[in-house]
Amino acid sequence: MAPPAESRALLERAGQSHLLRFWPELAPAERDALLAALALLGAEELGAHCRRAAEARERERGALQRLDGRMEPVPAEFLGSVSSSQPAALARWEAEGFCQIAQNKVAVLLLAGGQGTRLGVAYPKGMYSVGLPSGKTLYQIQAERIRKLEQLASKKYSTTCTIPWYIMTSEFTLGPTEKFFIEHNYFNLEKSNVVMFEQRMLPAVTFDGKAILEEKGKVAMAPDGNGGLYRALVDNKILEDMARRGIQYIHVYCVDNILVKMADPIFIGFCVSKGADCGAKVVEKAYPTEPVGVVCRVDGVYQVVEYSEISLDTAQMRSPDGRLVYNAGNICNHFFTLDFLKTVAQKYEPHLKQHVALKKVPYVDEEGNLVKPLKPNGIKLEKFVFDVFQFSKNFVAFEVLREEEFSPLKNADTADTDTPTTARRALLSQHYRWALKAGAKFLDENGSRIPDRPNLSGTEDPPAVCEISPLVSYFGEGLETHMKNKDFYSPFILEESKTEMLEDARMN
Ligand code: UD1
Repeated sequence: MAPPAESRALLERAGQSHLLRFWPELAPAERDALLAALALLGAEELGAHCRRAAEARERERGALQRLDGRMEPVPAEFLGSVSSSQPAALARWEAEGFCQIAQNKVAVLLLAGGQGTRLGVAYPKGMYSVGLPSGKTLYQIQAERIRKLEQLASKKYSTTCTIPWYIMTSEFTLGPTEKFFIEHNYFNLEKSNVVMFEQRMLPAVTFDGKAILEEKGKVAMAPDGNGGLYRALVDNKILEDMARRGIQYIHVYCVDNILVKMADPIFIGFCVSKGADCGAKVVEKAYPTEPVGVVCRVDGVYQVVEYSEISLDTAQMRSPDGRLVYNAGNICNHFFTLDFLKTVAQKYEPHLKQHVALKKVPYVDEEGNLVKPLKPNGIKLEKFVFDVFQFSKNFVAFEVLREEEFSPLKNADTADTDTPTTARRALLSQHYRWALKAGAKFLDENGSRIPDRPNLSGTEDPPAVCEISPLVSYFGEGLETHMKNKDFYSPFILEESKTEMLEDARMN
C-alpha cells in the first residue's frame, strides 16, 4: 500500500520525502506510528527546522573566532566570592538564604533531560552510583541534601518548610526516572513536592538538511538542549505551580555534580541581598582548555562562552596576578527569580539562540542497513540554559571553591577527568576533611592511628575512608557532636541511624 498521498505531497514540498522511503516494508503499526510522529512534527515545520539546522551549521563553521574581540571578564563589583569575603558577610548571606527557605520561597530545579552519552550508560545519569561505600546514587544524595536543608531551615525558624524539587526530564529520561523514584519511595520526600516534567524533542538533521531515520519507520529525535527549560516550564505550567506554592527564588542545577549544594543558603542569600534577578555560581577555571564555559560579558551583556566557542589564545590570557583573565568557570548552578523566569518564558524564549551540536547519529542507509557512524554526521539544535543571562537587569556571579562544590561526572573511567573515580574521590576527600575538622581520629584495620592529612586536596584519595550521609550533615555542619575525639575504623559510613549511638557514647 502506498503512503497517503497528502503526507507524501507535504513531505515532498518540505524536502523530506525520503522519510517514507521504507514505507512498503513497514508493518501497519509502524506505519501508523511514523505518520503520527510526522503529523506531530508538521511537514512544513520539519522542513523549516531542517533548513535552519543546516544553515546554522554553515554559519557557525565560518564564525568560530567571532566572540574573542567582543569579550570582557565579569567586573569585580558583580562577582562575589567565598574565598575573598569576610566570615561575617558569608554568615549574613547564609542567614538570609535560610530565612527565605524557611518561608517556603525557595525551590530547586534539576536539569536531567540529557542523554549522558559521554558517560556511556543507557539510563539517566542521576541513577548512577559512583561506587561510594554506601552505594548511593546521585539522585539519592541530592534528595537527602534537600531533606537535610529543610530540617536545618525549619529548626532555625521553628517552622516546617519545604523545598520543592522540580526535575526536567526528556523522552529518554522521564520513564526510568519516575520508576526509580517510585521504587525508592521518593527517598522519603513528599511525592507531591517532587515535580517531574518533560522537555521537547527535535529531529536530528544531516549536514545537507534532511531529517535522519534512525529506524526504517522512526525519525531520530534529541532533547532540545537544557535551554529547552523555558519552553518546558510553559508547556507544563510549572511557573503556575511555583506561584501557587509561593516560590520566589529558584536554584537551577545540572545532574552530574556530586558536590552540588542544592538551594545553597549562602548563594541564595547573596543573590537576594544583591537584588539579583539572575545569578551564576562559578569556580576558578583550572586550566585554559578545561571543558567548562566561562561567565563573561560579550558586547556588554552577560553570557557564558562555551568551551567550544573560545579560542585558545583568549582562553590562555592571564592577568598580572597570574590568574586566567577568563576564569569564571560555569558550573551550571543558576539563580533565578520567578519574575525573571516569567519574563523570559513570555517574552524572550523565542529569541534564544539555537546552538549547533554535531553528533554521531545512528541511521539507516538507503539500502536499509543500520549504520553507526564513526564521526559526526548529524546536527542537533540545542538551546542553552544560560543564554537568558543577557536579559537580566541585575546579574551577579558568585565564585565558590572547586574542592568543596564542583566535581562533575561526565565521562567513563577510561577518561582522565570528570569520571566516577574523580567524583568519588572528591566527595570522600571532602567528607574526610569535614570529619578531621570535627575532631575525628581514624584507625586502620589493625587499630593503628592513620596520620591526619587536614590539607588533603579533592584530587587525592583520602588516607581514611569516611562517608557522611547528607541526612547527618548538609555541608560539614554539626559533626562535632558525633565525631569529636572519637576513633573510627576506616572505612566508616556516618548514617543518621548511627548518630544516636555515637551521641549516647559521648554522654557516657
Ligand atoms: C554544562 C554547561 C557548561 C558547564 C558544564 C559544567 C550548558 C549548556 N553547559 O556543560 O557551561 O561548564 O556543564 O559541568 O549548560 N540537559 C538537559 N536537557 C538537554 C541537555 C542537557 O536537561 O537537552 C542537562 C543534562 O542532563 C545536565 C545538564 O543539562 O544535567 C548539563 O548538560 P551537559 O550536556 O552535561 O553539559 P556540558 O556540556 O557538560
